[in-house]
Amino acid sequence: MPAWSERIEEGEEARLEALAGRLRAVQERAASGGRPGRALHLKPIAAAEGRLEVGEVPDGLRVGIFASPGAFRCWVRASNGSGGRRSDAVPDVRGLAVKVLGVPGDKLIPALIDAKTQDFLTIANEVTPFRSAEEFVTVIEAGAGSALGLVFRLLWALGPSRAMSLLRDLQRELGVELAHWLDRPYYSALPIRWGEQAVKVAWFPVHVPDADHPMDRARHDHYGPDFATRLRAGDLVLALKVQRFVDEATTPIEDPTVRWTTPWEQVATLTLPRQDLDDERGRRLSSLVEELSFDPWHAPTDFRPLGQLMRARNVAYRESGLARGARGEPDGTEVEELG
Ligand code: HEM
Repeated sequence: MPAWSERIEEGEEARLEALAGRLRAVQERAASGGRPGRALHLKPIAAAEGRLEVGEVPDGLRVGIFASPGAFRCWVRASNGSGGRRSDAVPDVRGLAVKVLGVPGDKLIPALIDAKTQDFLTIANEVTPFRSAEEFVTVIEAGAGSALGLVFRLLWALGPSRAMSLLRDLQRELGVELAHWLDRPYYSALPIRWGEQAVKVAWFPVHVPDADHPMDRARHDHYGPDFATRLRAGDLVLALKVQRFVDEATTPIEDPTVRWTTPWEQVATLTLPRQDLDDERGRRLSSLVEELSFDPWHAPTDFRPLGQLMRARNVAYRESGLARGARGEPDGTEVEELG
């Protein structure tokens, strides 16, 4: 078994707490005195119900709910990455968060040890250009204003050489226009434990129903209506695949800028059955999902997130959730609320 390890510098915990505080300040400012929303990924694109099916799983990956065949109810939230409600035409990180329900076993967050959920948070980018949590938060702070402000603030905070290379990477990563929300895989971009292994995970589209009319990119919100049209037409199917750590040089744990090249191995299938996101049940689901919190640390102990950016998220998501009064982890009874 290849040996992976994390590198945790002394005093990191306090530094990550401080970074979460800086993100929270951005969140408060965005709320301008009102009730805060999510610090990031504020704008929902779609909320849908799904079913995760585990069948044959490759050797070494049969862990937790992936240990034996089974099926689990899921809730999915698609979102734009920024902390605002900008037009979908503005380049942004595109997110897909999946909450699996009815998951047994002790969970990572001590206060949620008996929770019954496991979340997978993914974006349409395979890697992140940020070398550290400090860089990530600096860019979020800088990006909360105008584009010109972003450039000046990054030059000031990171120096000309690092600022320019980060801006180039950001432009490349965010500048991709989606033909539709699921025209590409969605990646964890950062590693997690998978039993004894360390892996990155991704959702690969297997079947996306056709839309009955072209997406109207002139509309402020165009991805959500297109997503809904497709789900009204048929089932949407995604494969959950993982990529294993082999060595620190090619699959580093602490350098999130490196693309891992190990093969993708399928561990499950997620089906979003044909559904109407705009009918009564769809609207109730969407309100419920807005109140919930998706967090990579909502997971059984065998699936611990790895690396500094992940450790930063362990503080940041809880702070953001507390500030916006997010609902606790669902135990499955919420299904009755949907009617
Ligand atoms: C690079 C890998 C990352 C991925 C794949 C990712 C993905 C996501 C996704 C999909 C959401 C939306 C969840 C939802 O729908 O409720 C989200 C929210 C959020 N992300 Fe990340 N993220 C990443 C990195 C980070 C980092 C490094 C931080 C902070 C240090 C961060 C802070 C947040 C916060 C505060 C929220 C809002 C949480 C809430 O209020 O529920 N993310 N992220």
